[in-house]
Amino acid sequence: MAKREHWGSKFGFVLAASGSAIGLGNIWKFPYIAGENGGAAFIFVYLICIAIVGLPVVVAEILMGRTTQRNPVGAFRKLSGSKFWTAIGGLGVLAGFIILSFYTVIAGWSLGYMIEALQGNFSALGTAEQASNHFNSLVGDPTWMIGFYTIFFVFTMAVVFLGVKNGIEKASKIMMPVLFVILIILMIKGISLKGSGEGLAFLWKPDWAKITRQSVLIALGHAFFTLSLGMGALMTYGSYLNKKTNIPKAAMQIVFLDTLIAIMAGVAIFTAVFATGQDPAGGPGLIFNTLTVVFGGMTGGYVFGLLFFVLLTVAALTSSISLLEVVVAYFVDERRWSRHRAVLVLGSLVFLFGIPSALSFNLLANVTYNGMTFFDIADFIASNVLLPLGGLLIAIFVAWIWGFDKALIELKHGAENVFKDRSWLVGIFKVFLKYIAPVMIFIVFLHSVGLLESAIEQVKNYWIIIILVIVVLVIIISRNRKKK
Ligand code: TRP
Repeated sequence: MAKREHWGSKFGFVLAASGSAIGLGNIWKFPYIAGENGGAAFIFVYLICIAIVGLPVVVAEILMGRTTQRNPVGAFRKLSGSKFWTAIGGLGVLAGFIILSFYTVIAGWSLGYMIEALQGNFSALGTAEQASNHFNSLVGDPTWMIGFYTIFFVFTMAVVFLGVKNGIEKASKIMMPVLFVILIILMIKGISLKGSGEGLAFLWKPDWAKITRQSVLIALGHAFFTLSLGMGALMTYGSYLNKKTNIPKAAMQIVFLDTLIAIMAGVAIFTAVFATGQDPAGGPGLIFNTLTVVFGGMTGGYVFGLLFFVLLTVAALTSSISLLEVVVAYFVDERRWSRHRAVLVLGSLVFLFGIPSALSFNLLANVTYNGMTFFDIADFIASNVLLPLGGLLIAIFVAWIWGFDKALIELKHGAENVFKDRSWLVGIFKVFLKYIAPVMIFIVFLHSVGLLESAIEQVKNYWIIIILVIVVLVIIISRNRKKK
């Protein structure tokens, strides 16, 4: 087999992994869910989730990849030798396949809006209603939708086709700085607008009453999505690392950059939204309906509108390539396919699978199951079921099955300085990975699949039995440990 490709530099890896993390989740989704859930208080909860659940799982995923030098399926197989855990890796590859298919649909909107901006079409949008009519007529047109979806998909395939170093790493090295500069320009423009202070206050002054169980769960779920966790994307990127990389440090950088960009996007968007008196709780249409009106009415709106949709498209592209790479890596490692063949065949299959999602906004809008279109179902299964489940199992696997102590030995390669004289750091990481992360993710998972409410009812009814079962389990586990 050909020698495994590796990143050209540590910096290249951090940029590529940040590129995976930073995407539609940061620029499209984060601002609108923060807007809907009360702004600052929500952001506070989100930051806690990122720190105590996100960071440990980021480390765990990268570590599994680096240790095994394999895609998620190969990584689980190599570390466990068990069929069950190998299948969990397979679930990750499947999640990548599904997410890519609908993620590129939204990315297609973004690309289409770039062209709208280029044609100067936003200046005709005076009210949110006009903007939303315009949006509906665009996505309601199958030709427009499929067209931009196809173009975006071809870009994604082209980058992955070129390989890890010459494709993914190079693309990230060009696109991430571009993204950063554009965002800074938009942020400065937003802050300089008259009345932007209100937007800033919305982001910084917490209204604690807005924090509900629901918003905590949304924050935790989003922490997963935005960090690309739960399906082996970071594992796959980690598999192109060598032992010299300092994983804890790289993980901190990735998490920091992802969070920074989300907050910067929030500042750029909310300053503009408040300054022009629009509704911050615009929901999923915040960017396409609210923001386009803002650009339409602002001086220099043509340039800023264009820059914004370039930003969104670039962010989406560095994420979509990471999704395709997971699927491709599986076929290259496990099925011995060439990269080129894997990209062409699997890319085409995902593309075909995504077509019903792209048509969910027009031709197939009325084809629903339980009120959900094909797009909604794909999104639900991947984001609400497969990702939290994958994240939960990855945390459990590293902490309990592979074993925290063995994982720690691997983690120390390249990170000797981080842990030297800091045994408390190991202790914290251990508690987070072994207990806090799995329990929190489990709760999100129950909520995601709609079982949380009934679970709480069950706990109320059967709490004595549940406590007994837990006690028995604890006794069994501690006995097993002594035998070893
Ligand atoms: N993190 C990306 C975003 O915020 C989306 C993404 C890319 C993703 N790869 C992923 C989400 C893997 C989950 C798993 O837009």
